[in-house]
Amino acid sequence: MKKAIIWIIIIAFVLSGLTAAVFSQSMVETPSIRKTPPAPVITDAERHAELARRRAAVAERMEDNSILVLLSTTPKLYSNSVSYVYRQENNLVYLTGLKQNNITFVMTKTGGEVKEFLFLPKRNPVSEAWDGKMYSTEEAAAISGLKTIIPSSERAAFLAALKTRSAYTSTEGKANIATGLANVYLLLPSSPRDQTGLREYGPENELSKELSGFNVENARPIFAALRLVKSPYEIKILQHSVDISTEAHMRAMAAAGRAKWEYEVQAEVEYTFRRRNADYWGYPSIVGCGPNATTLHYQLPKGQVRQGDLLLMDVGAEYEHYTADITRTFPVNGKFTKEQAEIYQIVYDAQEAVAKATKPGVRFALLQMTANEVIEDGLLKLGLITKKDGMQFRQWFIHGLGHWLGMNVHDVGDYGTPLAPGMVFTNEPGIYIRPDALEWLPDTPENREFIARVKPAFEKYKGIGVRIEDDLLVTANGVEWMSKNLPRSIADIEAFMAKGPGELPLTASLLPYKY
Ligand code: GLY
Ligand code: MN
Ligand code: MN
Repeated sequence: MKKAIIWIIIIAFVLSGLTAAVFSQSMVETPSIRKTPPAPVITDAERHAELARRRAAVAERMEDNSILVLLSTTPKLYSNSVSYVYRQENNLVYLTGLKQNNITFVMTKTGGEVKEFLFLPKRNPVSEAWDGKMYSTEEAAAISGLKTIIPSSERAAFLAALKTRSAYTSTEGKANIATGLANVYLLLPSSPRDQTGLREYGPENELSKELSGFNVENARPIFAALRLVKSPYEIKILQHSVDISTEAHMRAMAAAGRAKWEYEVQAEVEYTFRRRNADYWGYPSIVGCGPNATTLHYQLPKGQVRQGDLLLMDVGAEYEHYTADITRTFPVNGKFTKEQAEIYQIVYDAQEAVAKATKPGVRFALLQMTANEVIEDGLLKLGLITKKDGMQFRQWFIHGLGHWLGMNVHDVGDYGTPLAPGMVFTNEPGIYIRPDALEWLPDTPENREFIARVKPAFEKYKGIGVRIEDDLLVTANGVEWMSKNLPRSIADIEAFMAKGPGELPLTASLLPYKY
């Protein structure tokens, strides 16, 4: 009897040791929800230096004898008297850090001398009672580092002088603009499509029509070139957006197995954004389960979360005006089926090939071709296309490889620019087997043959949608995956899904929900 007890104790001891060893090993190997870093600390001096550097870089690109005028974004209507959450125009934030409405930034360059000043609305108790505290002159100066700040009530006089190329002096004489400037730089719509009202810069466009005698220049290319290459300061902020988004993804992955509806998973994401002090999302969250994953910008996440299906989440937090853009596709029940894994692996391999091809000097088009090649090969092997003709694969890979990332999710910048350290882009191949895809093909002999030949494979894979999207920073030697802490390979996702729910800090949102 005693012997038996001793044996039981020995066996229990060995087993508990083994379990601890396995557990601690998996804790080391798989990323943790609890380890996402805190927000970066940025001093006033750092911010002033950064903003001054950006303003100097813009001034350097302006012709001499010029003026740049940046207006605040006009609030956008949600319904009747309610506006959407206000989001300041990116380039105004880029040069001043100021996010309040009705601010105008002006910079002149004459004889090589650069002057800069700001029109700022005066604090007003009625406005503050309705909409919250406004910047004082001191606060606006402390944020932006700008020294010349004039009440916005004087802006009308400034614009009147500008329209006739007259000299302007502010009431207290703090700002002076010479007469006869040759060039005005404004942010302007760059194509007729931009002028349909769907995009920004309507008021600037109207202003440009009222200017006489000036050479009107679009300031957007100047900003696009500068913003394409991120400074260490910008990367620090963008990395934080990525870190918040990484935690949001992990929480949502950990919670998905117990969710019944897509919006419950979306709630985990947006709860995390809010809790981590993100400004907002950078684009509406995409959370689609099963065939809903094949809709690229799926935005009504009201479908069911089904065990056995893949869930695609394309979500990104915006922090201090910089947005992440990350997609993961994972099995709700934690285990990929053979068919799901086959599609997933092709997309994964395409992403890997793109990252390997990334280095300074390479152009985006080459990265696109790299992804195309891997996806085409993979689809041919699965029988989802019948030949590598550079066209057929587009039936299933229906978007581009990615885009620049920064203050816009689809950030500004010329796609012909060779990659350079500091550029950030998304690496986001995808394969989408939409259940009705073949029904929409025009009835031609070629398509009839195509359908007949891919039908068996199509029946096997239909309804599967996979996108994997990571945020890549170009470095001197190649690339840094800013979103590397989020499980991505099949093995890492399955390992994370196996332990994720246990690791998730319990919040009200994870308690069983009563319907
Ligand atoms: N989330 C939008 C995109 O991936 O482009
Ligand atoms: Mn993207
Ligand atoms: Mn995305």
